[in-house]
Amino acid sequence: MRHAGTQTLETDRLFLRQLLPEDAEQMYTNWASDPEVTRFLRWEPHKNALETVGLLAAWATLYPNPDYYQWAIVEKASGQVFGSISIFNALLGDPAQKALWPQQDCTDGIWEAGYCIGKHWWNHGFATEALKAAVNYWFENTDGGWLTCCHAKENPASGRVMEKAGFLYHHDAIDHKFDGTPVECRSYLLTRERYNRKDLP
Ligand SMILES: CC(C)(COP(=O)(O)OP(=O)(O)OC[C@H]1O[C@@H](n2cnc3c(N)ncnc32)[C@H](O)[C@@H]1OP(=O)(O)O)[C@@H](O)C(=O)NCCC(=O)NCCS
Repeated sequence: MRHAGTQTLETDRLFLRQLLPEDAEQMYTNWASDPEVTRFLRWEPHKNALETVGLLAAWATLYPNPDYYQWAIVEKASGQVFGSISIFNALLGDPAQKALWPQQDCTDGIWEAGYCIGKHWWNHGFATEALKAAVNYWFENTDGGWLTCCHAKENPASGRVMEKAGFLYHHDAIDHKFDGTPVECRSYLLTRERYNRKDLP
């Protein structure tokens, strides 16, 4: 499969760019330390800024890989880094997922978009703007045939973001947090065919 890596993207109000070790302070303060932000995510809030520094140092080593997609979401108006969006191969974490996509070609993986933003920035359309940019990048710069997204059933705002970016509900599933806690989820699908029709919201 042709990959494109994490290149800088620009939208009306945002830059999406690689997350750097020097973003650690804003990442920790703006979203990674907040239990309300991580409530429906796989990971736990960071306990201190050093944890964020360590994570960003580890991610910095991954950017040379062309199949690594991890963007900082930066508000142009304020320059604040207030969230992140990634596209990752969910098949690596859970090979059983393949059975949930009988109609899709999983040869190159199951590529899933995930995002989170700081509470202060919720409900201004920012997650939708970032997801649309990532979707556009995916279909214009890789030859991936489809993308998925999934959200906890108890987190309908995220489902709304997926719908606004053109994804369609596909199936219910049980996902797991990194500590093994099961979470009831809804999975969404956006195919290249649908993307190419250019009739997305
Ligand atoms: C979920 C999240 C990404 C949404 O980001 P956002 O920038 O506020 O999203 P947007 O403003 O683009 O869109 C939010 C939509 O959800 C709707 N919404 C908000 N709260 C809602 C709720 N409790 N129930 C249903 N819809 C809700 C909003 O009205 C809006 O839809 P609309 O434009 O049709 O009115 C953000 O709250 C977040 O980062 N949460 C923590 C991390 C997380 O849950 N990530 C997703 C994991 S799958």
